[in-house]
Amino acid sequence: MTPRVRSLILTLTLMVWAAGFAQACRGEREAPSDAGARNAANATPAAQAYVPSSTFQEVMDSVVDPAADYVWEAVSYRADMKGVTERRPRTDADWHQLRQHAVVLVEAANLIAVPGRKVAATNKMVEDGGPLDVAAIQKRLDANHESLVAFANGLRTVGQQLIDASNRHDVDAITELGGTLDEACEACHRTFWYPDEPPPPGAPATAAAAGSPVKK
Ligand code: HEC
Repeated sequence: MTPRVRSLILTLTLMVWAAGFAQACRGEREAPSDAGARNAANATPAAQAYVPSSTFQEVMDSVVDPAADYVWEAVSYRADMKGVTERRPRTDADWHQLRQHAVVLVEAANLIAVPGRKVAATNKMVEDGGPLDVAAIQKRLDANHESLVAFANGLRTVGQQLIDASNRHDVDAITELGGTLDEACEACHRTFWYPDEPPPPGAPATAAAAGSPVKK
């Protein structure tokens, strides 16, 4: 083989190799975009972060109300034929249980704030089956989400104070915060649920407290 032929063969070999390399590169570039196109075709939607499957009524009935009842009953007095019995947390286990319910209230604030939650499945109250104007409540909720979130934040704040008081084993604080908790529930209920009821004397402002006007 003459040196010329050798160099020609080498050049050809290099050209073939370069072409193959370029093809491979194109192939590599094409592979992911093909995959992307296939994915787009069978599109699975991106995972949804928050799914408010339950209604407000259910969240209240299953999460908020039982936790609040526990707190209100944790420090209480019961009078019967045998006299007055004082109930209060005594053991570490009692305090831990109280704290567990305070944590539920704190996190319930996030459940309340999830957008798109429906009020209730029927026009009936869960408590006594009485009438509930779901459409009107829904309208107020949809038009005033920021205000709803502000009331939820009020619930979170009391819940956090209840956690702190449980950590300190502070019975007096639990009693006092029981009242604050009741106000946090009522402020939201009066705004969204029964705005036409006159507020009880000395009740804290509702919409004004939340910092945004509430549209009926
Ligand atoms: C941020 C707003 C908000 C807060 C705070 C709130 N709720 Fe509610 N609650 C609602 C809405 C809205 C409804 C829907 C109306 C309904 O189901 O009657 C509701 C309904 C309820 C119901 C169901 C009534 C029924 O029979 O249908 C109960 C019980 C309840 N809440 C208890 C509480 C308690 C106890 C607290 C405080 C610890 C509280 N809620 C705090 C908004 C709130």
